[in-house]
Amino acid sequence: MPRIAYVNGRYVPHREAAVHVEDRGFQFADSVYEVIALMGGKLADEVGHLDRLERSLKELRIAMPRSRRAMQFAIREMVRRNRIRDGMIYMQVTRGTAPRDFKFPSKGASTLVMTLYPASYDIPARKAAVKKAVTVPDIRWKRRDIKTTALIAQVLAKQAAAEKGAYEAWMVDDKGYVTEGSSSNAWIVDKKGNLITRPTANNTILKGVTRSALQALCKKEKIKIVERPFTVAEAYKAKEAFTSSAVALIAPVVEIDGKKIGNGKAGDLTCKVLDLYMDYATDEHRRQERWNPK
Ligand code: PDD
Repeated sequence: MPRIAYVNGRYVPHREAAVHVEDRGFQFADSVYEVIALMGGKLADEVGHLDRLERSLKELRIAMPRSRRAMQFAIREMVRRNRIRDGMIYMQVTRGTAPRDFKFPSKGASTLVMTLYPASYDIPARKAAVKKAVTVPDIRWKRRDIKTTALIAQVLAKQAAAEKGAYEAWMVDDKGYVTEGSSSNAWIVDKKGNLITRPTANNTILKGVTRSALQALCKKEKIKIVERPFTVAEAYKAKEAFTSSAVALIAPVVEIDGKKIGNGKAGDLTCKVLDLYMDYATDEHRRQERWNPK
Protein backbone atom coordinates (compact mmCIF):
# COMPACT_ATOMS: atom_id res chain seq x y z
CA MET A 1 0.00 0.00 0.00
CA PRO A 2 1.73 3.22 -1.09
CA ARG A 3 1.70 6.16 1.31
CA ILE A 4 -0.44 8.99 0.06
CA ALA A 5 0.16 12.72 0.50
CA TYR A 6 -2.17 15.58 -0.35
CA VAL A 7 -0.98 18.51 -2.45
CA ASN A 8 -3.42 21.25 -3.49
CA GLY A 9 -6.47 19.06 -3.96
CA ARG A 10 -4.67 15.98 -5.29
CA TYR A 11 -3.90 12.72 -3.48
CA VAL A 12 -0.48 11.62 -4.72
CA PRO A 13 2.08 8.94 -3.83
CA HIS A 14 4.14 10.30 -0.94
CA ARG A 15 7.47 9.91 -2.74
CA GLU A 16 6.23 11.99 -5.67
CA ALA A 17 4.56 14.71 -3.60
CA ALA A 18 6.16 18.09 -4.33
CA VAL A 19 5.65 21.84 -4.41
CA HIS A 20 7.27 24.31 -6.79
CA VAL A 21 10.80 25.62 -6.04
CA GLU A 22 9.30 29.10 -5.87
CA ASP A 23 6.77 28.14 -3.28
CA ARG A 24 7.03 30.80 -0.56
CA GLY A 25 7.05 28.14 2.12
CA PHE A 26 10.34 26.90 0.70
CA GLN A 27 11.76 30.34 -0.14
CA PHE A 28 10.83 32.31 2.98
CA ALA A 29 9.14 29.93 5.45
CA ASP A 30 6.13 32.13 4.61
CA SER A 31 3.81 29.47 5.93
CA VAL A 32 2.04 27.94 8.90
CA TYR A 33 1.22 24.42 9.98
CA GLU A 34 -0.80 22.23 12.31
CA VAL A 35 -0.46 18.69 13.61
CA ILE A 36 -3.39 16.55 14.73
CA ALA A 37 -3.03 13.19 16.45
CA LEU A 38 -5.07 10.33 15.03
CA MET A 39 -5.83 7.81 17.75
CA GLY A 40 -7.70 4.65 16.96
CA GLY A 41 -9.12 6.35 13.88
CA LYS A 42 -10.26 9.42 15.85
CA LEU A 43 -8.86 12.91 15.43
CA ALA A 44 -7.81 14.40 18.76
CA ASP A 45 -8.80 18.03 19.19
CA GLU A 46 -9.49 18.52 15.48
CA VAL A 47 -11.66 21.58 16.10
CA GLY A 48 -9.00 23.24 18.25
CA HIS A 49 -6.26 22.68 15.70
CA LEU A 50 -8.37 24.02 12.84
CA ASP A 51 -9.32 27.05 14.96
CA ARG A 52 -5.63 27.75 15.55
CA LEU A 53 -4.74 27.17 11.90
CA GLU A 54 -7.30 29.80 10.89
CA ARG A 55 -5.92 32.20 13.46
CA SER A 56 -2.27 31.72 12.37
CA LEU A 57 -3.29 32.33 8.75
CA LYS A 58 -5.24 35.44 9.68
CA GLU A 59 -2.34 36.87 11.68
CA LEU A 60 -0.07 36.50 8.64
CA ARG A 61 -2.73 37.50 6.10
CA ILE A 62 -2.48 34.19 4.24
CA ALA A 63 -5.76 33.04 2.68
CA MET A 64 -7.42 29.85 3.94
CA PRO A 65 -6.60 27.39 1.14
CA ARG A 66 -9.97 25.61 1.32
CA SER A 67 -13.12 25.96 3.38
CA ARG A 68 -12.97 24.31 6.79
CA ARG A 69 -15.45 21.69 5.62
CA ALA A 70 -13.32 20.87 2.58
CA MET A 71 -10.24 20.59 4.78
CA GLN A 72 -12.04 18.27 7.17
CA PHE A 73 -13.11 16.15 4.23
CA ALA A 74 -9.52 16.01 2.91
CA ILE A 75 -8.17 15.02 6.35
CA ARG A 76 -10.62 12.10 6.48
CA GLU A 77 -9.80 11.12 2.93
CA MET A 78 -6.09 11.04 3.85
CA VAL A 79 -6.87 8.79 6.80
CA ARG A 80 -8.98 6.51 4.61
CA ARG A 81 -6.52 6.31 1.73
CA ASN A 82 -3.51 5.68 3.97
CA ARG A 83 -5.39 3.11 6.05
CA ILE A 84 -3.73 4.40 9.21
CA ARG A 85 -5.57 4.33 12.54
CA ASP A 86 -2.81 5.68 14.78
CA GLY A 87 -0.73 8.52 13.47
CA MET A 88 -0.18 12.22 13.07
CA ILE A 89 -1.55 14.36 10.31
CA TYR A 90 0.50 17.42 9.32
CA MET A 91 -1.11 20.28 7.43
CA GLN A 92 1.07 23.00 5.96
CA VAL A 93 -0.26 26.13 4.30
CA THR A 94 2.02 28.54 2.46
CA ARG A 95 1.37 31.90 0.80
CA GLY A 96 1.68 30.05 -2.52
CA THR A 97 4.04 30.09 -5.48
CA ALA A 98 5.27 33.34 -7.02
CA PRO A 99 8.51 34.80 -8.46
CA ARG A 100 10.90 35.40 -5.57
CA ASP A 101 10.09 38.73 -3.92
CA PHE A 102 9.80 39.43 -0.21
CA LYS A 103 6.55 41.38 -0.60
CA PHE A 104 3.25 39.48 -0.78
CA PRO A 105 2.41 38.42 -4.35
CA SER A 106 -0.51 40.36 -5.83
CA LYS A 107 -2.26 37.19 -7.00
CA GLY A 108 -2.13 33.45 -6.58
CA ALA A 109 -3.55 30.87 -4.22
CA SER A 110 -2.21 29.43 -0.97
CA THR A 111 -0.53 26.03 -1.10
CA LEU A 112 -1.97 23.24 1.06
CA VAL A 113 0.03 20.10 1.76
CA MET A 114 -0.93 17.25 4.08
CA THR A 115 1.13 14.27 5.15
CA LEU A 116 0.20 11.43 7.48
CA TYR A 117 2.73 9.54 9.59
CA PRO A 118 2.08 6.39 11.61
CA ALA A 119 2.52 6.66 15.40
CA SER A 120 1.97 4.47 18.41
CA TYR A 121 -0.13 5.52 21.38
CA ASP A 122 0.97 2.85 23.82
CA ILE A 123 0.23 4.74 27.02
CA PRO A 124 1.94 2.37 29.54
CA ALA A 125 5.08 2.53 27.36
CA ARG A 126 4.88 6.30 27.25
CA LYS A 127 4.61 6.47 31.04
CA ALA A 128 7.59 4.16 31.45
CA ALA A 129 9.80 5.95 28.91
CA VAL A 130 12.74 7.81 30.42
CA LYS A 131 12.42 11.20 28.76
CA LYS A 132 15.12 13.75 29.34
CA ALA A 133 15.20 17.44 28.55
CA VAL A 134 18.00 19.98 28.30
CA THR A 135 17.72 23.76 28.49
CA VAL A 136 18.84 26.08 25.69
CA PRO A 137 18.50 29.84 25.15
CA ASP A 138 15.30 30.81 23.35
CA ILE A 139 16.56 32.59 20.23
CA ARG A 140 13.21 32.83 18.40
CA TRP A 141 11.27 35.82 17.08
CA LYS A 142 8.60 37.62 19.12
CA ARG A 143 5.45 36.15 17.55
CA ARG A 144 5.62 32.68 19.02
CA ASP A 145 1.81 32.60 19.18
CA ILE A 146 1.78 31.92 15.42
CA LYS A 147 2.45 28.32 14.44
CA THR A 148 4.82 29.11 11.60
CA THR A 149 7.05 26.62 9.78
CA ALA A 150 10.02 28.95 10.42
CA LEU A 151 11.41 26.38 12.83
CA ILE A 152 15.18 26.78 12.53
CA ALA A 153 15.61 27.79 16.20
CA GLN A 154 13.67 24.68 17.20
CA VAL A 155 15.70 22.52 14.81
CA LEU A 156 18.90 23.71 16.53
CA ALA A 157 17.36 23.24 19.97
CA LYS A 158 16.19 19.68 19.21
CA GLN A 159 19.59 18.83 17.76
CA ALA A 160 21.31 20.13 20.90
CA ALA A 161 18.95 17.93 22.94
CA ALA A 162 19.57 14.88 20.77
CA GLU A 163 23.34 15.32 21.05
CA LYS A 164 22.94 15.10 24.83
CA GLY A 165 20.67 12.06 24.69
CA ALA A 166 17.54 14.08 25.45
CA TYR A 167 14.25 14.15 23.55
CA GLU A 168 13.28 17.74 24.17
CA ALA A 169 14.89 21.13 24.68
CA TRP A 170 13.27 23.57 27.07
CA MET A 171 13.93 27.06 25.81
CA VAL A 172 14.84 29.77 28.28
CA ASP A 173 14.30 33.54 28.02
CA ASP A 174 16.85 36.26 28.91
CA LYS A 175 15.67 36.34 32.51
CA GLY A 176 16.16 32.62 33.16
CA TYR A 177 12.50 31.63 32.78
CA VAL A 178 11.47 28.63 30.72
CA THR A 179 9.36 29.65 27.74
CA GLU A 180 8.36 26.25 26.29
CA GLY A 181 9.73 23.10 24.70
CA SER A 182 11.04 23.24 21.14
CA SER A 183 7.86 21.47 20.00
CA SER A 184 5.76 21.37 23.16
CA ASN A 185 4.54 23.37 26.15
CA ALA A 186 6.44 22.96 29.41
CA TRP A 187 4.88 22.15 32.78
CA ILE A 188 6.12 21.48 36.31
CA VAL A 189 4.40 20.32 39.49
CA ASP A 190 5.35 22.13 42.71
CA LYS A 191 5.61 20.63 46.19
CA LYS A 192 1.94 21.47 46.90
CA GLY A 193 0.81 19.54 43.84
CA ASN A 194 -0.06 22.60 41.73
CA LEU A 195 0.54 22.46 37.99
CA ILE A 196 2.60 25.40 36.79
CA THR A 197 2.83 26.54 33.20
CA ARG A 198 3.77 29.81 31.52
CA PRO A 199 0.92 32.16 30.52
CA THR A 200 0.30 32.70 26.83
CA ALA A 201 -0.01 36.49 27.14
CA ASN A 202 2.61 38.60 25.30
CA ASN A 203 3.02 35.96 22.58
CA THR A 204 6.12 34.46 24.23
CA ILE A 205 4.86 30.91 23.64
CA LEU A 206 2.52 28.98 21.40
CA LYS A 207 -0.91 28.49 22.90
CA GLY A 208 -0.98 24.70 22.72
CA VAL A 209 -4.24 23.03 21.85
CA THR A 210 -3.29 20.15 24.18
CA ARG A 211 -2.46 22.73 26.86
CA SER A 212 -5.92 24.32 26.47
CA ALA A 213 -7.65 20.94 26.66
CA LEU A 214 -5.67 20.11 29.82
CA GLN A 215 -6.71 23.41 31.40
CA ALA A 216 -10.38 22.57 30.84
CA LEU A 217 -9.96 18.99 32.08
CA CYS A 218 -8.07 20.07 35.21
CA LYS A 219 -10.74 22.64 35.99
CA LYS A 220 -13.40 19.92 35.95
CA GLU A 221 -11.22 17.65 38.11
CA LYS A 222 -10.33 20.49 40.51
CA ILE A 223 -6.62 20.15 39.81
CA LYS A 224 -5.08 23.56 40.38
CA ILE A 225 -3.14 25.16 37.53
CA VAL A 226 -1.07 28.24 38.24
CA GLU A 227 -0.25 30.17 35.08
CA ARG A 228 3.05 31.89 35.75
CA PRO A 229 6.57 31.76 34.37
CA PHE A 230 8.95 29.41 36.20
CA THR A 231 12.74 29.41 36.26
CA VAL A 232 15.15 26.65 35.31
CA ALA A 233 16.21 26.46 38.99
CA GLU A 234 12.57 25.83 39.97
CA ALA A 235 12.23 23.17 37.31
CA TYR A 236 15.27 21.30 38.69
CA LYS A 237 13.57 21.17 42.11
CA ALA A 238 10.08 20.35 40.84
CA LYS A 239 8.21 17.31 42.10
CA GLU A 240 7.27 16.40 38.53
CA ALA A 241 7.74 17.80 35.05
CA PHE A 242 6.14 17.10 31.69
CA THR A 243 5.49 18.50 28.25
CA SER A 244 2.25 18.71 26.29
CA SER A 245 1.79 18.55 22.54
CA ALA A 246 -0.33 16.90 19.90
CA VAL A 247 2.52 14.54 19.06
CA ALA A 248 3.97 13.67 22.48
CA LEU A 249 0.59 14.17 24.27
CA ILE A 250 1.52 14.46 27.94
CA ALA A 251 5.15 13.32 28.12
CA PRO A 252 6.83 12.88 31.52
CA VAL A 253 10.21 14.60 31.85
CA VAL A 254 12.31 12.73 34.39
CA GLU A 255 15.61 14.56 33.99
CA ILE A 256 16.52 18.14 33.09
CA ASP A 257 20.16 19.06 32.30
CA GLY A 258 21.28 15.80 33.93
CA LYS A 259 19.32 16.52 37.15
CA LYS A 260 16.80 13.95 38.26
CA ILE A 261 13.24 15.29 38.65
CA GLY A 262 11.32 13.84 41.59
CA ASN A 263 12.12 10.15 41.88
CA GLY A 264 13.26 9.93 38.25
CA LYS A 265 10.01 8.31 37.08
CA ALA A 266 6.81 9.65 35.55
CA GLY A 267 4.99 11.48 38.37
CA ASP A 268 1.53 10.52 39.67
CA LEU A 269 -0.10 13.77 38.61
CA THR A 270 1.57 13.58 35.19
CA CYS A 271 0.13 10.07 34.69
CA LYS A 272 -3.26 11.24 35.89
CA VAL A 273 -3.46 14.14 33.43
CA LEU A 274 -2.24 11.87 30.63
CA ASP A 275 -5.08 9.45 31.40
CA LEU A 276 -7.57 12.32 31.55
CA TYR A 277 -6.36 13.61 28.20
CA MET A 278 -6.54 10.17 26.57
CA ASP A 279 -10.12 9.64 27.78
CA TYR A 280 -11.07 13.04 26.45
CA ALA A 281 -9.26 12.74 23.12
CA THR A 282 -10.57 9.30 22.25
CA ASP A 283 -14.15 9.66 23.48
CA GLU A 284 -16.16 10.38 20.39
CA HIS A 285 -19.28 11.18 22.40
CA ARG A 286 -17.56 13.94 24.32
CA ARG A 287 -17.59 17.17 22.37
CA GLN A 288 -14.02 18.41 22.10
CA GLU A 289 -13.15 21.90 23.27
CA ARG A 290 -12.99 24.84 20.91
CA TRP A 291 -9.64 26.54 21.10
CA ASN A 292 -9.82 30.03 22.56
CA PRO A 293 -7.19 32.33 21.07
CA LYS A 294 -7.44 34.85 23.96
N1 PDD B 1 4.37 21.23 18.07
N2 PDD B 1 4.95 24.88 21.53
C1 PDD B 1 5.57 24.66 20.37
C2 PDD B 1 6.74 25.52 20.02
C3 PDD B 1 5.13 23.64 19.51
O1 PDD B 1 5.76 23.44 18.33
C4 PDD B 1 4.03 22.84 19.90
C5 PDD B 1 3.51 21.74 19.02
C6 PDD B 1 3.40 23.11 21.12
C7 PDD B 1 2.20 22.33 21.59
O2 PDD B 1 1.05 22.64 20.85
P1 PDD B 1 -0.13 21.59 20.64
O3 PDD B 1 -0.50 21.10 21.98
O4 PDD B 1 -1.18 22.36 20.00
O5 PDD B 1 0.43 20.48 19.77
C8 PDD B 1 3.88 24.14 21.91
C9 PDD B 1 3.93 20.22 17.13
C10 PDD B 1 3.40 19.00 17.77
C11 PDD B 1 5.04 19.95 16.13
O6 PDD B 1 5.71 20.90 15.78
O7 PDD B 1 5.20 18.82 15.65
